[in-house]
Amino acid sequence: MNTNDTPKLSLLVPSRERAESLKFSLNSLGLDRNNLEVLVWVDGDDAQLDLYRAIAKENKRIRLFIKPRIGYLQYHLMMDFLAQQAVGEWQMLWNDDAYMEHVEWYDTFIEYASLNPPLTEPVLLNIWGQGRPQHFFPVISKKYFEIVGHWSQMTICDTWIKHIACRTNIRRYVFGIKPRHRKFGADNGALGDLIDNTSHSIEQLQKDTGDVYLGQRSRQNRVKMDNDVAKITSWIRSTTDRNIRIGFVGLGKLGLPVALAIESRGKNIVGFDIDPKIKKYISDRKIPFQEQGTEKLLQNTTIEMVDSVEQVIKKCNLVFCAVQTPHDERFEGHKPLKDEPTDFDYSHLKKAVKDIVKAANKLKEKTTLVVISTCLPSTFEKEIKPLLSPKVNYIYNPFFIAMGTVITDFLNPEFVLVGNNNGDTTPLTNFYKMIHGQDKAFITDITTAEGIKVLYNTYITSKIVFANIYGEMAHKLGMNADDIYNALGRATDRIISTRYLKSGVGDGGGCHPRDNIALSYLAKKYKMSFNLFENLMKAREKHMEWLADLTCDESRSSGLPIVILGKAFKPETNLQTGSPAILLANILNDKGVEFSHFEFDHPEEMPIAVYILATQHTQYTQIKFPAGSIIIDPFRYIEKKDGITIISIGGKK
Ligand SMILES: NC(=O)c1ccc[n+]([C@@H]2O[C@H](COP(=O)([O-])OP(=O)(O)OC[C@H]3O[C@@H](n4cnc5c(N)ncnc54)[C@H](O)[C@@H]3O)[C@@H](O)[C@H]2O)c1
Repeated sequence: MNTNDTPKLSLLVPSRERAESLKFSLNSLGLDRNNLEVLVWVDGDDAQLDLYRAIAKENKRIRLFIKPRIGYLQYHLMMDFLAQQAVGEWQMLWNDDAYMEHVEWYDTFIEYASLNPPLTEPVLLNIWGQGRPQHFFPVISKKYFEIVGHWSQMTICDTWIKHIACRTNIRRYVFGIKPRHRKFGADNGALGDLIDNTSHSIEQLQKDTGDVYLGQRSRQNRVKMDNDVAKITSWIRSTTDRNIRIGFVGLGKLGLPVALAIESRGKNIVGFDIDPKIKKYISDRKIPFQEQGTEKLLQNTTIEMVDSVEQVIKKCNLVFCAVQTPHDERFEGHKPLKDEPTDFDYSHLKKAVKDIVKAANKLKEKTTLVVISTCLPSTFEKEIKPLLSPKVNYIYNPFFIAMGTVITDFLNPEFVLVGNNNGDTTPLTNFYKMIHGQDKAFITDITTAEGIKVLYNTYITSKIVFANIYGEMAHKLGMNADDIYNALGRATDRIISTRYLKSGVGDGGGCHPRDNIALSYLAKKYKMSFNLFENLMKAREKHMEWLADLTCDESRSSGLPIVILGKAFKPETNLQTGSPAILLANILNDKGVEFSHFEFDHPEEMPIAVYILATQHTQYTQIKFPAGSIIIDPFRYIEKKDGITIISIGGKK
């Protein structure tokens, strides 16, 4: 770190009769390491003036201002004075009795702060303190101070700032830093000692004024707060900077709760919905569906609803699109499935994308369009891509949220799925780092992202189907269903884990196929509503049959012979019981197809052929396949080689 750079952060500290405590406090900040500036106000009549002077002399980063005493009730004026002298892009309210446990706190701070432009955006960074939940250390951006003109208009500056920031939706949370107060002490009780003259004189002031809140609840101050709120709100609404707000097209059951959640993490929203009812929900602060947490957030919302997509694009750089992609009513799952299923209806999405592209083209500035709507894999390639223009940076970002808990799920995701082809994901990933306080992005191509979104749900469905089938079987055979789940739930290595979640060939060995086939007998005997066991075995067999057909097709079109490599049911063994490799050979035999079949006994000189790898033996990666060969690799583990065609099943194209 270049310590000669202008400090990014200025700490503002009015202090009285706490020179020793201040010294301890400033030492804990790592002033030199972190290139900080500290501005200290001390009263001219302070009994410890010499000590303060000595502290400031020791480090040029401490700027001491000795001023005529104005008293604790004018604390805000001391803050405003210090703020005017500060050079940092950020200003933090600091206390002479507070300290940081590690000097590295600043690394966390600056990493988060760098996602927020302090010179162009009014922002409050909220750093939690100790004690009661309302104890926090506010950090405001220079732009905030520039727009409002002061920190506070009453003594309790943090409360003031918090009110303004909450009502204008500019409060963002810095996670991972916890300053401590000397009066609360550390977890081990150390330093819980500082209840001194300063503390006593504040208590006395509360008694003298008869106001323990020191103005926090006065009507006069409420009016002044409204004034600050109005300054920020009108600035946010009128600025031409498109980075300040987040756009939303479609504020239905998903879009609206998500927009409210984003507001609660400190970003303002501009929205458009073709349904006029949405505007009314927002102005009435009431929605007709139940969604946890929306009621409270709706009370404080400042969502600006505009009358066209064009106005959203004009005001926002990053625009989410959450319009519906409905399915025919017959395929919503509440009716028995009788008809042939169809794709979702993308007409609303296509119309919204067309409108967004048109507006972005007109504006001539690049817009990042983030589509949330659920699409089946390949929808982007077929339906959306042809509608786009170079002015649109298209990203697909579906959410894994459940209706009813949209806000919590959005704010606490397992991961953030980002589908991107040739665009720039930075505007979106930075936005999420700001919202979540960490990087949770999983970036892949758009078609794969479309797939992950729906296959995630399928995975849950299959777990539930399994649980229900086990439940039915338990009922019919006198087993305890809950004990079954509890026992399986303990298998966190093999079952509740990512193990086996990798495509290749079917499972084998002396247990799996045999047990499933035996269970399929039991399912028939006990007239189970659906013979899942038989169907699992059929799915396993059909998959091997598909690989066999693919091999035959390649052989037919190339005119090359077929070679199966692998006989064992799993790598690095020679056991063949229940082996999918043997199943593959049997399927080819049944089809009357000729082939050679080797395990480790293959010839030194391999023929030019279509190779199907049926067991994932490590040794096969060392084979020198002759040029002109085709290798079908269900495991995606053979490296590309010149002259050889590798068909990597499910591999990156
Ligand atoms: N609701 C959920 O919990 C959830 C969860 C995951 C994914 N999704 C997906 O998100 C998408 C939206 O779902 P939803 O439940 O919010 O649907 P919804 O029908 O409740 O909301 C869609 C909104 O988009 C508006 N809209 C349609 N076309 C528009 C246009 N051209 N311009 C502006 N607004 C337009 C509609 O008026 C409506 O208010 C769907 O693809 C859905 O599958 C929803």
